[in-house]
Amino acid sequence: MVLELSKRAQQMLNKRDFLDEYTMLCMHDPFNQDTNKKGYVNLGTAVSALCEDVIQKRMNEPGLFQFGSKEQHYFPMWGTTEMCEALASCLTRHLAPDLPVLPENVLVVNGGVAAMEVLACCLLDPGDVLLTPSPCYTRIIVNFSERFKVNVVDVLLRDTNEISVGERSAFELNGDLLEDTIMEQKATGRVVKAFYLVNPNNPLGEVYSPQLVLQLMEVCHRHGLHFISDEAYAMSIYEPQTPFQSVLNLSPLPDPQKTHVIWSFSKDMNLAGIRIGALISQNKDLLHVVKNTSVYTAVPAIVQKAAASLLNDTVWLDEEFLPTHRQRLREAAHKTQNALISLGAKVQPAQAGFFLWANLRCFLPKVNHDEELALFKRFMAHKVYLTPGSEMRCADPGWFRIVFSSAPHVLEEGLSRIADTIKEL
Ligand SMILES: Cc1ncc(COP(=O)(O)O)c(C=O)c1O
Repeated sequence: MVLELSKRAQQMLNKRDFLDEYTMLCMHDPFNQDTNKKGYVNLGTAVSALCEDVIQKRMNEPGLFQFGSKEQHYFPMWGTTEMCEALASCLTRHLAPDLPVLPENVLVVNGGVAAMEVLACCLLDPGDVLLTPSPCYTRIIVNFSERFKVNVVDVLLRDTNEISVGERSAFELNGDLLEDTIMEQKATGRVVKAFYLVNPNNPLGEVYSPQLVLQLMEVCHRHGLHFISDEAYAMSIYEPQTPFQSVLNLSPLPDPQKTHVIWSFSKDMNLAGIRIGALISQNKDLLHVVKNTSVYTAVPAIVQKAAASLLNDTVWLDEEFLPTHRQRLREAAHKTQNALISLGAKVQPAQAGFFLWANLRCFLPKVNHDEELALFKRFMAHKVYLTPGSEMRCADPGWFRIVFSSAPHVLEEGLSRIADTIKEL
């Protein structure tokens, strides 16, 4: 009975989220080389199965989920003391060696998506504008708009020309573009409150330089915007010698009170299932409000206990897991890139993340979003799911995001289904 729901819920009733919808479709009929050869190969959902062996061995060691009285009762819902300390120490070691992260500036929430919603709630009023470069990870739009009614507006990155591997001109982000978009929005009378940067970028796989990040932060500072740096893939940079600097390690920050960082267990730790995200900020008012409302976003104490032990096991994390994670990402990325290029696709140069951004325009009879969607449907008919660029707000038709971090034999199967689809065109 629709009418019995609130107006808010009624608005949500018919909304569909593309990424969720297709993840679920693949989950209900997944490819399995022994038991379900005709199932879907999911090269669309950004998770990594590359280190399942390393993760599961460590997670199943005795003691990790040891249940005691601390895990039985209420606890600081914004993060147990052990977890905030473990996160602060891990983030300092890996992202901010020069500027130690303080445990009191770290809040634990149930995933990166929850961290986004918390920021939507605390930093922006309904109708206020949050800017983010597009193509983008579209949950940013959902998370800021669905319940807190933020107006998410693209800083439109364009495919400036036909790129070839090695050149870095397409989808370029720069301070002028951000400045222009802010001015355009202000000219319409809107209140522009925040800028959201995903670095390393999803879906482009690009790592932004510290110089560019500072330039963007200065533009934000000049216009009084909050700067949100989503660094969910910061420890998933697989190309060595890539210059990356976390915002946590930048000094001086143009506006420390308006600078906030998001990190998550889902990507860098390969643990999307345990639902842990972190929000790091020096803004005492923000921290206060988030703590006061943290009952809505708490992570179970037993899960935090296990997760903190993982982070504190520096030998396992720094010497075993992370090097293996990066090495396997690198191999899978190169293999996928070569396979796509051999088919005639163009691939955006990438250094990080679980995916490649590939231009399949040459396979479209006409270059438009309808034909892109038609190609997507052909892939789906071959039971391989890739995300079409239009579903990531890409203005230029023909782009797809291809996740390469499935188990190697699944990736192999997915690449061969892509090839079969293209041969059939
Ligand atoms: C850039 C980025 N941030 C945040 C998230 C959310 O991750 P989670 O809510 O699983 O922590 C994702 C997931 O795909 C992501 O790609």
